[in-house]
Amino acid sequence: MEPVKDAIAKRAHVGTIGQYRALYAQSVEDPAGFWAKQAKRLDWFVDPLVVREEEEAEGTVDFSWFGGGKLNAAWNCVDRHVAERGDKTAIIWAKDEVGEYEHISYRRLKQEVCRVANVLRAHGVRKGDRVCIYLPMIPELAFTMLACARIGAIHSIVFAGFSAESLKDRIEDAGAKVLVTANEGLRGGKTIPLKATSDKAVDAVGDLVETMIVVRRTETEVPMKAGRDVWLHEEAARQRLSCPAEWMDAEDPLYILYTSGSTGKPKGVLHTTGGYLTYAAFTHELVFDVHEDDIYACVADIGWVTGHSYIIYGPLANGATTVMFESTPLYPDASRYWRLVDDLGVTIFYTAPTAIRAIERLGDEWVTKTSRKSLRILGTVGEPINPGVWQWYHDVVGNGKCAIVDTWWQTETGGIMISPLPGATPCKPGSATLPLPGIQPVLVDDEGNEVEGNDVRGNLCIKGSWPGQARTIWGDHARFVDVYFTRFPGYYLTGDACRRDEDGYYWITGRIDDVLNVSGHRLGTAEVESALVAHQAVAEAAVVGMPHDVKGTGIHAYCICTPAWEEKDRAEVIDVLKKQVREVIGAIATPDRLMVVPGLPKTRSGKIMRRILRKIAAAEYDDLGDITTLADPSVVEKIVDDHKAGK
Ligand code: WT7
Repeated sequence: MEPVKDAIAKRAHVGTIGQYRALYAQSVEDPAGFWAKQAKRLDWFVDPLVVREEEEAEGTVDFSWFGGGKLNAAWNCVDRHVAERGDKTAIIWAKDEVGEYEHISYRRLKQEVCRVANVLRAHGVRKGDRVCIYLPMIPELAFTMLACARIGAIHSIVFAGFSAESLKDRIEDAGAKVLVTANEGLRGGKTIPLKATSDKAVDAVGDLVETMIVVRRTETEVPMKAGRDVWLHEEAARQRLSCPAEWMDAEDPLYILYTSGSTGKPKGVLHTTGGYLTYAAFTHELVFDVHEDDIYACVADIGWVTGHSYIIYGPLANGATTVMFESTPLYPDASRYWRLVDDLGVTIFYTAPTAIRAIERLGDEWVTKTSRKSLRILGTVGEPINPGVWQWYHDVVGNGKCAIVDTWWQTETGGIMISPLPGATPCKPGSATLPLPGIQPVLVDDEGNEVEGNDVRGNLCIKGSWPGQARTIWGDHARFVDVYFTRFPGYYLTGDACRRDEDGYYWITGRIDDVLNVSGHRLGTAEVESALVAHQAVAEAAVVGMPHDVKGTGIHAYCICTPAWEEKDRAEVIDVLKKQVREVIGAIATPDRLMVVPGLPKTRSGKIMRRILRKIAAAEYDDLGDITTLADPSVVEKIVDDHKAGK
């Protein structure tokens, strides 16, 4: 156990484990009272009348928070701070160019948000309309999100690393009539052709997208289509600096964010206004122990939920100073993060285990040659952190003086669910430790029974609702109910397997479905498989995870070729197919290893034995289990031989 550090506990909002336990007990004994109090963190135009409502009927489920309440998320993240801290820096933009920063005060943020809101309005965007945002980590991304929130439009941000086809699918599914993009992105010194990708995606959705608003991030010229494409800076210059904030119902949608599931089609997770913002603000303050003078840096990309909740909505709702980091952890070298910390005096730093591993393997000196003396709290998210990597983060990056918060949560939970509190919770490296107040994790066995007590394992579920919970899947509530509430009725199913140890600490042990966690990002094996079989070279494909030193889980694909491609050069086919996945989904989905195989291990009824493929991918050849029941056991021998030979 790593004890809590006195210096951190002394000034923390929650400063002892006893205080945490008392707060937790209170939150589950009187959830309505507890959450009503948390909602008071926000400014409401009209106070809520009820805290929580749940509806259940044959085969469906529904819940809502803070009914009757009216508020605006942008107003809460921006306007209300202008009077008290108008000159305080809201956002520090850390540009891709080393050492270049831009500070944006709350006062200026309000003006920029209003201008973009007026631009959107001028192009016909109204309350409830969907705006797709395909931008890199530049301030205009924050302005646009908050501008949508201001006028009641629903934003759908697509990570700028996704392909044209992924972008097209998301634009189409959300029915977005406006796309906001940039001429180019800049990341790690490389340019990303966002406008060209956007053109491809938009051309493929017919006339759905009426307007493409383009931010000029670089000097590169791009073709602009007359009547459709406009420059943001030209449009904004024409607009007023003020724009009224729509009074939104607590349950009005705030945003859609797509995430992978176990089928090929990504799900548009929907978050609403009052509950989500309450939960983002509450968890941000508690888990990161945020105080007025903190400089807070979450180096995730806003294209993922971490960026939504913990770069923008949580920190800004709390009036904090938040960093937007445009670059990568290794550009120009492995000191980049710590140079950022020293340049800005960062006190709270939040990243993913995959980034920590990528830096750790390059040697301590990249870290130790920087000061990092401003740091107080170090966070991680996205996947289990190896205990050794946790220790390195603690000892080397944190100089043994910082609290580590290993935060477990999901796109669907809206915010952190299980995490230590920096001033209160003794840590065990590798465990996300204990649930936050108001959150009731349970372990459920495969028959649906709650597993009581400690030193037990099960499917991690959450009992009851919490304000940040996703309300539906855009356009498909039945799928929402089916994926999360059907296998174990009465609980929210997370999809993670988990152990609760003898002290009641939670340890995430992996996924229970066909979802891979690659560098902290969720990817469905079915998505990668369908990208592969969409190519004429592939007759059949199976994708599994494999251990990967940096990514945590890598992608291993097995493909059976079509006759015309069987005789072609193997290396060439492999290249073509890796490129295929990159083009269909995006670089994050590129298989780390792809094998062309003569067949797949199948049962006599035709079911692919993924268990065997996973073992081979992990090079655990002696542990394949019983293969005699396979339709053709010889296939396995051939795959094993080829795998050993590195083919
Ligand atoms: C899945 C959710 C939440 C933002 C980033 C990912 C895994 C997340 C942890 C952690 C172990 C973790 C889980 C979860 N995960 N955080 N601290 N320890 N596993 O969001 O893409 O929705 O993925 O990430 O498997 O279900 P996401």
